[in-house]
Amino acid sequence: MHERTIKEIDLKGTYLPSESRYDDADKLYNRCGRSGVKLPKVSLGFWHNFGGVDAYERSRAITHYAFDHGITHFDLANNYGPPYGSAEETMGRLMDDDFRPYRDELFISTKAGYDMWPGPYGNWGSRKYLMASLEQSLRRMHLDYVDLFYSHRFDPETPLEETLQALVDIVRQGKALYVGISRWPLEALQKADEYLRAHDVPLLIFQDRLNLLDREPINKGTLDYCREHGIGFISFSPLAQGLLTDRYLNGIPSDSRMARGQFLTQDKLTPELLDYLQKLNQTATERGESLAGMALAWILQQPGVTSVLVGASSTAQLEKNMECVQAKPIQQLSM
Ligand SMILES: NC(=O)c1ccc[n+]([C@@H]2O[C@H](COP(=O)([O-])OP(=O)(O)OC[C@H]3O[C@@H](n4cnc5c(N)ncnc54)[C@H](OP(=O)(O)O)[C@@H]3O)[C@@H](O)[C@H]2O)c1
Repeated sequence: MHERTIKEIDLKGTYLPSESRYDDADKLYNRCGRSGVKLPKVSLGFWHNFGGVDAYERSRAITHYAFDHGITHFDLANNYGPPYGSAEETMGRLMDDDFRPYRDELFISTKAGYDMWPGPYGNWGSRKYLMASLEQSLRRMHLDYVDLFYSHRFDPETPLEETLQALVDIVRQGKALYVGISRWPLEALQKADEYLRAHDVPLLIFQDRLNLLDREPINKGTLDYCREHGIGFISFSPLAQGLLTDRYLNGIPSDSRMARGQFLTQDKLTPELLDYLQKLNQTATERGESLAGMALAWILQQPGVTSVLVGASSTAQLEKNMECVQAKPIQQLSM
């Protein structure tokens, strides 16, 4: 258990968000599919940089910068950390320290679907797992409900109806306002869309990887399906975990995700890829933009995309990423 220092206790409740946070609201938000909800074009993900291993004050500063600039959507999952669950605990501390008065201005999501606790009920897509996991998530985040609850991945062994009915019942119980699915194959997405619509809990959003290096949702027709059926689309790892920034153009910095080597490994950075990234960077420079800003803008300009779900290890990175909201139209960027 974290021992709070006097300084931290003193800081509790002193955060006053910027009064200008919604000044550019007409530029900052997209409607999510055909729902009543608008999401920020840039959303903040808690996969990295918000765990128990990370410095709380740095995580806290990133969320302040985000909220001060109109980023109202924070995305979590049960197993974000490390250790598992600790990003949600950070969210709980942030609620207590800073964000409780602003709960109704925040759109907080969490997920279950990957390995979380030992035994047969802590993984995949059973009703047993989803229901228990959300209970745990709410306790860790000090919340009564989440705005959005996701099935984090498709489970080929659990009947699709069982997973989906659990999502429906979670909404009926008031523990989530909306539901989403992430990384489901297109055919299963179609079935989910039909099932949830028939049960009066329409699918709010689909979460999948889409960036300049991975265009599968476009090539496979997933993005088109979402757009045509009024489902929002949010792109995770929109910067390919940092590859689509200036982070690796001149070597591998010791404090980077690639240097840590668990989720982004050095073998990804082939000479061909580096060459492509240099060319993209050149194009961005000619446009008067950063590579990160241009890469995010490219995603946001794909018809049907609601939001890019970025990660950031500093407020400076997030500041740069926000530039995409102002970017000029992009014609064609080849692979
Ligand atoms: N549904 C799913 O299965 C799934 C899977 C993955 C992610 N997600 C969601 O998507 C969110 C984002 O994923 P991600 O962290 O991979 O996103 P990302 O935005 O592609 O990568 C974020 C990382 O790139 C680097 N970076 C970001 N902005 C930068 C900038 N302006 N200049 C230089 N470097 C920059 C930082 O790494 P350094 O540490 O090197 O500074 C940062 O942590 C997650 O937090 C999570 O919410 C969902």
